[in-house]
Amino acid sequence: MSESRPPICDYEGSDYQEKFWEHGSREYEDRVEAIALKRLLPDEGFRLLEVGAGAGRNTSRYQGFQQIVLLDYSRTQIELAQQRLGESERYVYVVGDVYRLPFAQEVFDAATMIRTLHHLVEPQNALSQIRPTLVPGSTFILEYANKRNLKSITRWVFRRQVWSPFDPEAIEFTELNFNFHPRVVYKWLKQAGFSPGRKLTVSHFRINLLKRLVPLNLLVALDSMMQPTGDWAQLTPSVFQSTSVEGVPGHVREGSIWRCPECGSLDLKKTKEGLSCKGCRRIWPVRDGIYDFKNPV
Ligand SMILES: C[S@@+](CC[C@H](N)C(=O)[O-])C[C@H]1O[C@@H](n2cnc3c(N)ncnc32)[C@H](O)[C@@H]1O
Ligand SMILES: [Zn+2]
Repeated sequence: MSESRPPICDYEGSDYQEKFWEHGSREYEDRVEAIALKRLLPDEGFRLLEVGAGAGRNTSRYQGFQQIVLLDYSRTQIELAQQRLGESERYVYVVGDVYRLPFAQEVFDAATMIRTLHHLVEPQNALSQIRPTLVPGSTFILEYANKRNLKSITRWVFRRQVWSPFDPEAIEFTELNFNFHPRVVYKWLKQAGFSPGRKLTVSHFRINLLKRLVPLNLLVALDSMMQPTGDWAQLTPSVFQSTSVEGVPGHVREGSIWRCPECGSLDLKKTKEGLSCKGCRRIWPVRDGIYDFKNPV
């Protein structure tokens, strides 16, 4: 069964949050992403799903939502998020796979997926898994790595790079790291039932020399000013695409949010060990406040 599953970029045990963000001179990227999120997120809402949440770098930015469900494939990333954010009713920590989401239909009124699409071998599949968990009218914000960026265009023009940034095919620049063409991502979103809205271009100045020479606040302010140009052209390495879920706007469904990722049953009962599925008899453990939909008991 697992042979046919797409390969996954596994962050288990990774020091990504610490190395890449906290000691990686990426304050500029972090701050401009926060600005883009603020611009695109609804001011308030009920329950937001964060797909590929990692160590919860963005989670505290979803202020207006009553509940935030963090899902990541890696348990150690979710544990880090839990350490950083703490245990509270407001946060639900979930280990799971975007290709097999453990959620019932229409239980979220917003979702985000930041810096995660670029690891996915089957991005269309992932988008079509996310779509039904959202109530029509809700907002889904997708960040993706853009292959048609200024740096790759320049390199291609000067023959320092063989692949064309204008070719719609995704480019896998290292194993399980993909850059996508904005037009193709747009098409995938439409096909999955999302109606694409505003686009913000982010990280216009992701050049080490500039980051060293120009004061951080100025660089952030300039990026912020330029983000709205994304509606006309996307030449940055990162794009934030806002979408709204197609259909007649409604309300988040009441009741349990869970669905067995293995058999699809909605009949999951809370037991001492975890969530027991009446459909396939699997028990999905809940350990130290973390729901695990990868390794049944
Ligand atoms: C680059 S990190 C981004 C983390 C966070 N969104 C951020 O921006 O700081 C990508 C995350 O995607 C997760 N991921 C990769 N493939 C996944 C999958 N199939 N399902 C769920 N999460 C996945 C990884 O475990 C990792 O934590
Ligand atoms: Zn089941």
